[in-house]
Amino acid sequence: MMDWTDNHFRTLARIISKYAWLYTEMVVAETIVHQKDNSDRFLAFPAEQHPIVLQIGGSNVDNLSKATELATAYSYDEINLNCGCPSGRVAGHGCFGARLMLDPEFVGDAMSAIAASCSVPVSVKCRIGVDDHDSYEELCKFVDTIVSKSPTRHFIIHSRKALLNGISPAANRRIPPLKYEYYFGLLRDFPEVQFTLNGGVNFIDQVNVAMGQGAHGVMVGRAAYNNPWSTLGYVDSAVYGVKSDSLSRRQVLEKYQIYADSVLEKDTPHRPSVRQLVKPLLNMFHSEPGNGLWKREADAALRHCKTVKSFLEETLDALPDSVLDSQLSGDPPKWDGNFDNMETLLPPKYTAGTKDEFKLHACLAMST
Ligand SMILES: Cc1cc2nc3c(=O)[nH]c(=O)nc-3n(C[C@H](O)[C@H](O)[C@H](O)COP(=O)(O)O)c2cc1C
Repeated sequence: MMDWTDNHFRTLARIISKYAWLYTEMVVAETIVHQKDNSDRFLAFPAEQHPIVLQIGGSNVDNLSKATELATAYSYDEINLNCGCPSGRVAGHGCFGARLMLDPEFVGDAMSAIAASCSVPVSVKCRIGVDDHDSYEELCKFVDTIVSKSPTRHFIIHSRKALLNGISPAANRRIPPLKYEYYFGLLRDFPEVQFTLNGGVNFIDQVNVAMGQGAHGVMVGRAAYNNPWSTLGYVDSAVYGVKSDSLSRRQVLEKYQIYADSVLEKDTPHRPSVRQLVKPLLNMFHSEPGNGLWKREADAALRHCKTVKSFLEETLDALPDSVLDSQLSGDPPKWDGNFDNMETLLPPKYTAGTKDEFKLHACLAMST
């Protein structure tokens, strides 16, 4: 997630969960290509972050391919193409993000080029449609075309469509309704392809319910950022079935502080500020007693602290020891929803090759 899942947040996430797959923010292919002498800034990550997926964005096949080649040196575990971002800023760069869904042939060619430039699996993250191009058939045609033109066998499905009418990216993650039935339709109609469910998953229990109903994987976005400890903290035990280290928040912060201050000690260009390094920590005490006071103290401390160690020393007294030292135990909180009505909502079965071509938007020309 842009500006959120940077190296620092991912480091925190990895301290909390050893097994969750981590995704980078979208990195624009042109940035990687044009800044190739400075590529560490955009592509480097600590080895502990594996398994990690690089998400790239763009609409120029040569640049997507070159960017992938340059990223090879960093040993990402998967390369993902963004076909879901509705931002006008990104869309204005050309046929980019969610707009690419209107041009499945192009995405198929792009994925083929990306796959040829690396030796790891490749994947696509997309919406279930764009504007009026929101039928299940069109979504299937998109998947079908990419699968037939490239080795892509993994799609992450943000289960709401994108509206390219100028509403904000935040509204685009809230206003179009979630249609999980499209996701479950894809599971039924493309048994050879892996689909990860995304959108509106706020509980780890919900992940397990989805997996129980056949989901191959679930991507959690905002909930992991907004409440990292009690979302990511359950992943290893409840999803992967591995006994986790069960760190207290104080222990998580101690580990993160060692990382953060080591970054500050390095004399590198674009060295982050203490504020940037503290940002991922700000939701660690979501809904806990003392959180409000701690946030106010954090605000004041960030005006003068030169290290994350001093920041923590100055602020953690605002939180009760019971909050700092307790560990997650037992099962994650129950999700009170279900996917039980999916059977009745499932769209008609897709049969490859029998569907009419749908009209592509004008951006088709821009992408070739
Ligand atoms: C601040 C922010 C930045 C995001 N940046 C990206 C991005 O760079 N690439 C991407 O594929 N999705 C991005 N997303 C969308 C999320 O990955 C996800 O698809 C969306 O939030 C729905 O999932 P959720 O309900 O679990 O948050 C972003 C979301 C937010 C809130």
